[in-house]
Amino acid sequence: MERFAIIVGDITRSGAEAIVNAANPSLLGGSGVDGAIHRAAGPALLAECRGLGGCETGRAKLTHGYNLRAKYVLHTPGPIWQGGHLGEPALLASCYRSCLTLAAEHGIRTVDFPSISTGIYGYPLPQAATVALRTIMGFLAEHDLPERVRMVCHSESTAAVYRQVFNLWYAEDKDSRL
Ligand code: APR
Repeated sequence: MERFAIIVGDITRSGAEAIVNAANPSLLGGSGVDGAIHRAAGPALLAECRGLGGCETGRAKLTHGYNLRAKYVLHTPGPIWQGGHLGEPALLASCYRSCLTLAAEHGIRTVDFPSISTGIYGYPLPQAATVALRTIMGFLAEHDLPERVRMVCHSESTAAVYRQVFNLWYAEDKDSRL
């Protein structure tokens, strides 16, 4: 199984064991991918989230997936972009690391991520993709679980940026490039 892939799709239809929700600290739902995941999972997800007491930016909490194909949802509030000098990169990296750590602790084998913070929270995509890929690839290099991680991009344009960043840093054949 390829350990990492970038795909285009709707994360609410993912068959991964766990999907990640780009949440807000209240964990009480929202719009964007948060709203889509809650709509697809059904009201039981919100009921479980109510009992979690929120989640700090950069941390992650696990719930069941209910009506989703995914067995679990890893909820993580990403940082709101404020220019990049108020700790946003470290907080975004912490989102990815917290989700991967929680997944490994629960023996979860496959995890799908959305592009955290790059929608309503305004994180510029190239910078976010660089942080996301560095964190994911670094974690996979040091851990056996998850066995597979995917970045599920909602549009081809988002995927193109992730693929560009991936090829810049991680493509095997990079030394064959001019
Ligand atoms: N599948 C995959 N990706 C999706 C989907 C989907 N169904 N819907 C949206 N996305 C993508 C967006 O295109 C964007 O690339 O998820 C990425 C994150 O965008 P947002 O959902 O806006 O999340 P974020 O930028 O982290 O802002 C979080 O928005 O929904 C609220 O409650 C949430 O307050 C929080 C804020």
